Amino acid sequence: MSIGQIPRAPLEDWFRDRYFTASVDISSSGVENYALGELREILGITTRELDETVFRDSPSVGAPALRAAVAARYAPGRSENVVVTHGSSEAIFLATAALVRPGDEVVVPGPGYHALVSTVTALGGRPRVWDLGSGEGFAADLDRLRDLLGTRVRAVIVNFPHNPTGVTLDRSAYGEFVELIARSGAYLLWDGAFTDLVYDAPPLPDPFLTVERCVSFGTLSKSYGLPGLRVGWAFAPRHVIADMVRLRDYLTIATSPLTESVATAAVLNADVLIGPRRAQAKANREFLTRWAHDHPDLVRCPVPGGGVTAFPRVIGVPNVTDMCAALAEDRGVLVVPGSCFGVPDRIRVGFGGPADEFAKGLTALSETVVKTTTGGVWA
Ligand SMILES: Cc1ncc(COP(=O)(O)O)c(C=O)c1O
Repeated sequence: MSIGQIPRAPLEDWFRDRYFTASVDISSSGVENYALGELREILGITTRELDETVFRDSPSVGAPALRAAVAARYAPGRSENVVVTHGSSEAIFLATAALVRPGDEVVVPGPGYHALVSTVTALGGRPRVWDLGSGEGFAADLDRLRDLLGTRVRAVIVNFPHNPTGVTLDRSAYGEFVELIARSGAYLLWDGAFTDLVYDAPPLPDPFLTVERCVSFGTLSKSYGLPGLRVGWAFAPRHVIADMVRLRDYLTIATSPLTESVATAAVLNADVLIGPRRAQAKANREFLTRWAHDHPDLVRCPVPGGGVTAFPRVIGVPNVTDMCAALAEDRGVLVVPGSCFGVPDRIRVGFGGPADEFAKGLTALSETVVKTTTGGVWA
């Protein structure tokens, strides 16, 4: 396969057809989004400051002020190792392309977000799936990972907290994980898109701080509620950044000074933006847990440790795809069928949005599951 033959991203195909017409969204892996006016008010950005933006090209690695802000929050002292990108998607693509060569073995999460898996395949790498499934629930089983790590493994790509299952590592498992990777000699590609969305413990440290061969990714698209700003980043060793820049010179060249200035203010005031959204998601997670508890005949829903997505199994519906399509069409309620992650009897439910919308969506979902399982439609 060549990069031009990269497989379709089923998740994006699903959204392309439904995201803009759904009236109730309980699908997303992000939190409630901010509007520019709201953001300006919270962060104290004046129209004059926006007006003063000159649309010249930014440096290839991003504006110095934004790199400094990202480093100050996630890896103090390492601003020279930050590259700012168009969402973390670009960073994931550039870093994977910089590091993976045909024939390389690469550990990837299963189930996994498409960018973390298909990019490897398209580059000619050989994915070795770290299966996060275990019976009814999910877990990051380090013994399974240990079995996959041979001398030939070039890189280990992970995403904690994990999309779609919400699996994460506790602090002691994180320590063991980081040590395991460092000893293996493989590159660690750490997707920290949901780092700030944890509820039971403080966020995990950025492994870039301790693992020498590490690239870590972050984004404003999830916990900050700013997916449309299209700003993400990577921390990477300088020689990897040089390769990422070589590739980006053919792709996006740089990010925009306008989005960089808004992003800088956002990262400098991260807690102000993230705090209320995390609280909302936490309350929704409790609501989801009660909902699942009240419907033991319909769903089995492992409680997500972090992130804003859960991945319940729908009992008695081996493939939920048609049911999810009908839910969107008939009720205007958007969820993601597990088939987008290769697990057709599960549904990705996003609990980061407004509480009333979430409750409305879950009610429609349970009614549709009942209709499906009792009426035999869509099953
Ligand atoms: C695990 C994970 N990584 C990366 C991304 C990419 O997000 P963005 O490019 O908006 O930063 C997503 C988006 O859904 C995601 O779920």
